[in-house]
Amino acid sequence: MSKLILRSIAKRFGEALAVDHLDLALAEGEFIALLGPSGCGKTTTLRMIAGFTGPDGGTIEMDGCVLSSASAVVPPERRHMSMIFQSYAVWPNMTVEENVAFGLNLRRLPREDVRTRVGEMLDVVRLAHLAQRYPAELSGGQQQRVALARAIVIRPSVLLLDEPLSNLDAYLREEMRFEIRKLHDEFHITTIYVTHDQSEAMMTADRIAVMNQGRLEQVDDPHTLYTRPKTRFVARFVGRTNFVEGSCQGDEIVFDRFSVPRWALPGGPALTGEVTFSVRPHTLRLSREALHGMGSGPRVAVRIVQRAYLGEYWDYSATPVEGSTRLHVNAPPSDRYEVGEVLWLEFDPAQMAAVA
Ligand SMILES: Nc1ncnc2c1ncn2[C@@H]1O[C@H](COP(=O)(O)OP(=O)(O)OP(=O)(O)O)[C@@H](O)[C@H]1O
Ligand SMILES: [Mg+2]
Repeated sequence: MSKLILRSIAKRFGEALAVDHLDLALAEGEFIALLGPSGCGKTTTLRMIAGFTGPDGGTIEMDGCVLSSASAVVPPERRHMSMIFQSYAVWPNMTVEENVAFGLNLRRLPREDVRTRVGEMLDVVRLAHLAQRYPAELSGGQQQRVALARAIVIRPSVLLLDEPLSNLDAYLREEMRFEIRKLHDEFHITTIYVTHDQSEAMMTADRIAVMNQGRLEQVDDPHTLYTRPKTRFVARFVGRTNFVEGSCQGDEIVFDRFSVPRWALPGGPALTGEVTFSVRPHTLRLSREALHGMGSGPRVAVRIVQRAYLGEYWDYSATPVEGSTRLHVNAPPSDRYEVGEVLWLEFDPAQMAAVA
């Protein structure tokens, strides 16, 4: 049985549908990232799950009980959920220890239990030595860990995180991603993590739900989402990509200057008409000699029109010699080519994903 189920949940602000009949089911202990651009409805969805906002339509169920519907909403304090808000707040007038104890005191736990649980929690987030400090005396990452400790210490059924790392610099953000995942592996709390950062989502989540204009475009594990995006939006939002147009003709799919048998493309036999494929830059291969070191994929002659060295790889832009489309290609640092050079570009049909 699913832990948390959103059925056709909808929220309207005036004329605009901020959340457009969204369906999502989380298994017990699952970690899902809600990923999407600014304004797509992530916070609104999270606030409905927490009970701060009521839906205009649909239902939210937890453990088989309806928590939200258009007619009735169980208030946040009776949902056993913890939420960390987008502009996270730790109480500035309380020490680290008092911040973490706050939710337990509110629940009137015996003083001794509170002390034990707060102590254990501070050990987990490595803040025990700072227990008597005030938030103003902490770094951003430390304050973030206080907020996480405070949310987790009450052992919520569901943990809701709204861009919890957005106030941190790039280095700390990267470190905190691992911390959040580690906390999840330790406590197994069913979690929804809102972010617009794809690498944050890929690093933390079991599954990623990609949201666009109030709707879910695709829900999949990070690997499937990256290698088999179903729509142009998902392909573009999760990593960089090229779009290549093909046309189904009999047993073949015909592209500009090359063709591929249907069977060689994932899902190829079922395709019809004109189809767009997402082709990741690192799945394309450049080579000086056609016979040297190349596989068996289709290839076209291209000219390098631009290049950038990014340390870990080369980022080339190439244009078919007899064409105008521009393709992004990533190559290892040792594969150095000059602007203007004419090369072979090889496609790997197995890594081309048909997108709607
Ligand atoms: N209280 C409100 N009144 C009117 N419109 C609102 C309200 N809250 C949100 N909206 C609108 O609903 C849409 C979704 O907002 P939401 O805050 O859910 O987006 P988000 O995905 O969290 O964006 P961000 O990444 O910028 O935080 C936006 O167009 C926003 O302007
Ligand atoms: Mg938001």
